This record gives sequence, C-alpha cells and structure tokens, in this order.
Amino acid sequence: MRVLEVASEVAPLAKTGGLADVLGALPSALSRLGCDVTVVLPAYREALDGRHGPIEPTGWEFDVAVGTGTRRATIWQSRLAGRHGGADVTVYLVGHPAYFDRPTLYGGAEAYGDNAERFIFFSRAVLDLASRFEQPYDVIHSHDWQTGIVPAYLKALPAAWPRLARARSVHTIHNMAYQGVFWHWDMLLTGLDWRHFHWRQMEHFGKLNLLKTGIVFADAVTTVSPTYAREIRSAPGGCGLEGTLASRGDALVGIVNGIDTDLWNPAADPHLPRPYGAADAVEGKRAAKRALAERVGRDPDDDRPLAAFVGRLAEQKGIGMVADVAARLAAGGRVRFFVLGTGDRHAEETLRRLAAAHPGAIDLVVGFDEGLAHLVQAAADMLLMPSLYEPCGLTQLYAMAYGTIPVVRSTGGLVDTVVDATPEALAAGRASGFLFEHADAGALAWGLERALELHADRPAWERLVAGVMHQDWSWARSAAAYRTLFERVVEAPPHGGRIRLSAVGAGAGAGGGASGEAGGDFDARDDRAEREA
Ligand code: ADP
Ligand code: GLC
Repeated sequence: MRVLEVASEVAPLAKTGGLADVLGALPSALSRLGCDVTVVLPAYREALDGRHGPIEPTGWEFDVAVGTGTRRATIWQSRLAGRHGGADVTVYLVGHPAYFDRPTLYGGAEAYGDNAERFIFFSRAVLDLASRFEQPYDVIHSHDWQTGIVPAYLKALPAAWPRLARARSVHTIHNMAYQGVFWHWDMLLTGLDWRHFHWRQMEHFGKLNLLKTGIVFADAVTTVSPTYAREIRSAPGGCGLEGTLASRGDALVGIVNGIDTDLWNPAADPHLPRPYGAADAVEGKRAAKRALAERVGRDPDDDRPLAAFVGRLAEQKGIGMVADVAARLAAGGRVRFFVLGTGDRHAEETLRRLAAAHPGAIDLVVGFDEGLAHLVQAAADMLLMPSLYEPCGLTQLYAMAYGTIPVVRSTGGLVDTVVDATPEALAAGRASGFLFEHADAGALAWGLERALELHADRPAWERLVAGVMHQDWSWARSAAAYRTLFERVVEAPPHGGRIRLSAVGAGAGAGGGASGEAGGDFDARDDRAEREA
C-alpha cells in the first residue's frame, strides 16, 4: 500500500507541537507494517537550514496554479531515520521562498496574512508532485486545516491529477480549535468552482473554512483519541463544526497517538545526565533533578517533590490554573514548580512575576527547548496538564515513559491514556496518574494534593512509577489501526457506498485506559459519482 503523508509539521525538521511528533514517528511505524510511505512538508527556513537532518536538492521544479497565476515549486529531499528496524522514510519539502523562508511556521502573535495562499499552494504542489511518480498512491493522508483542501482537490478536480484518480483520502484532525478560516475571496486562490462554496462544503458563516473542507471531502476522517472523537460531535468540543461532523454520521474514528520510543526513552536519552529504566528510576530521576536545579541556579540538594508543566502557554493547556495553583502552594514549601513553555505573552508575564516572587519554589524557562523538555520530564515527579480540552496530548505519554506521574483534567485523550489512582486501580497495578473533572484551580490543586499524599508513601509511589514506566505507548498498535483504516478505505467501492470504520479505532497501549471505540458506517459517496451519473 502506497501512502502519502501530507502535513505542515514533521519532527525534527519543523515543529511547534505534537503534530510534528506524530508525523515524525507514524510514517516509520507504518513502513514497518509494510506500507510504502512518503512524507511531504513545506520547505520552511528552519527545515532547510540543515540543523535537523541532511537536506538535498532534487533538481525538480514546476509551476503550481494559485488563483489565476502560477508559483514556482522547488522540491528538496530529506529522510526520517527508520525506527526499530523499519526502513528510512523519504521526506519531500516543497519550497517557495516568498512563502516559506520566514522566521516562524505560521506567524507570531498575528498569523501571517497570506496563510491561506501559502497552504493552498503547498497542498496543490503536493498533488502535482505525487502525480509525477509513475506508481500511484493508494491513500493520501492529510492533517489539520493546513492541508484540509487536499481531499477537496482529489474529489472536485480529479481531471487535474489523473494518476491520483484511484487515491483515497483520509483527513486527521489534531485540534478543532484551529480551522483555517479565511475571507471568501480566498476561494479564488483554490481554483475550485464557487459551487463548492456553500454551507455543506467549504463555506462556514460566510468564510472559507479549510478544516471543514477536509472533514467534508475526505473519504474517512480521524482524530487523535476516541474520547475526543466523541466530544467533537457536539458543542463546545466541535468548535462550531459539530454539525458538519454529525452530518457525516458517526463516521469518525479516534486513534490514540503513540510515542517515538527511540527519541523518548530514558534509558537512552542524550539529554539526561544518567540514563535510567524502571529498576533504577529513583537514581536516574534524582540525577536529572540535580542537573535541572544546577541549570537554573538552584540548590541541587533540594529534594522536595517537583511538579512540572511543559507545553504551549495557551488557553487550551489551562496555564492559568497552573499559575494559580503554583501561587497558592509555593509558599507552603511542600512542593516546587517548574514551567517550560512559550506562547501567550500575558501568561508569560504572569508566570515571570510569580517566579520572581517565589525564588526556588517556582522556576520558569520561557522558550522552545527540546533538550530541556526531556530533562524536565525526567526530573519532575508530577506533570500538570489541566487542559480545557486535549485532542490526545503527548506530553503526558512522555511523562509516563520517564516515570513522571501525570495530574490531568478528565478530557479528550487524557481520559484515554491516564488511569486515575483510585485505591482499586493502585491495588490492581493499573493506576497511572490523577484525574480531576472541573476546569478550575481548586480541582487541579485537589489532584496535586492527592499526588503529594501518595508521594509521601515512598514504596507506594515507587510502585506507581515503575508501573507507568512499564506501559507500552509505542506507535505499533496505533499504526496498525491506521493501516486497517487505510485498507478499509481502499477496499471501499470507488464511487460511493459505505465504508465500515467500526472496530478500526485504536485504544491504549498497555495502560489500558482507552477502549477501541470507533465511528459507525462512513458514507463515502462523493460528488464525482454524482457528476458522472
Ligand atoms: P500540543 O500539540 O497541543 O502542543 P502535545 O502534548 O501533543 O500538545 O505535544 C506537545 C509537544 O511539543 C511535545 O513534544 C512537547 O514536548 C513539545 N513542547 C511544547 N512546548 C515546548 C517547549 N517550550 N519546549 C520544548 N518542547 C515543547
Ligand atoms: C494537537 C493537540 C494535541 C495532540 C497533537 C498531536 O496539537 O492539541 O492534543 O496530541 O495535536 O495529535
């Protein structure tokens, strides 16, 4: 099966969050399962600078239609190292310096004004590139709003890419809150007929909506956990597109993300002072804690419990609750806090003020630092993740791999990956963290207090740590679910008919937190069939 993965981020070449991590690992996991996978990414400045892997020119250049004109695409090439014996995966990078030779991927506090044009160009260039290869692709797997128009191109402009006539499309939603909403005249950039600009296809309240476009046109739609797949079928989870998701029946599968166990493995992590496994987690984590303290100029012998936050300083992540709880508990002296993140200026300022007011009790590093993220995950005892919503979340999975116990709000993928440490779950060895319901600081404080209480019982805590470190969150199971989904989609009758997606959904690794819940039948009828009829 030939699979083309199309996305706006791929780790380590270009990353702002978990999307990059997924694209950095899933392709190799699929190739290990026998899929022939290619990945395509925009040739951003940060990807081309060669720091994250060798980049070579392919010598291929071609013109891509954008609006009434064309833009030149220059194709570069890189490779993602094969994992666990899997083959290396080829990554093509689509270059157009005016669009992608910029300091950041999407803009800063203000998004770049031409983001619609940049990603419409990229999506179209990907299909032009894919149809240059003699061997056709079976599945084109797009991700998030940036590539939401790919399924629409395949369905609505089939004549433009005859070699892709049999390719089926799968679109994965990583976050409903970012939809790629643009003014209606950007429809002209797409080259698609205005008849697609209506509320059942590309239009949403008068605007062009690229995530909706992907959801509507794809042969199958997935998101990154079963619980989130349920939540987005209604408000507020659907962020206004709940009707669109509902209009496709419950044909939406949730497949939990995995983690790249080559990169996130405390036993072989170059960012740690002392590698460790479940058997010597106490020593390994102590060494990491000392190294972290030294890094920020604190007492390395301070062995109070450390609660950390690693992530985007965004409303989604509940960073306000973290700040409130840190302010509340710092003075008590029983626990220390460490925040690594970047994003919202206001949140940065609040945290800076708190850190200054509580030296040694609250530490803050503002910035994006991959190595430091690894060190913090190893050094911390607890990871705080009070997300307002969380499609899947990877940081809690990294935490568990490093023997750090997640304290998380009961939402989305956090429900599917963390098992609350009730007395029963602890006794049965199934517990992996602490869950709380309400999106307020009191609830997070309660979750953290429960964790601190168990932490005081050293043998019980060490059993919990060893238990979470033994879980398997590698990509193997989830990649198998994607492959099954791809097979179903490819086997479905070419024009219309129903694709059965039930039983495709992948749940948890050994954590056992997730069930394999899936959608129902998926109506694959497309308007190509209507037009040809
Ligand atoms: P999201 O994609 O919503 O940001 P995830 O938990 O899925 O959340 O993934 C976040 C990824 O980004 C993880 O790899 C995490 O380590 C990384 N990350 C987030 N913020 C930072 C930061 N400031 N420095 C380093 N890595 C970060
Ligand atoms: C999004 C979500 C996060 C998820 C990631 C990868 O950024 O916010 O929950 O883990 O995508 O799928």
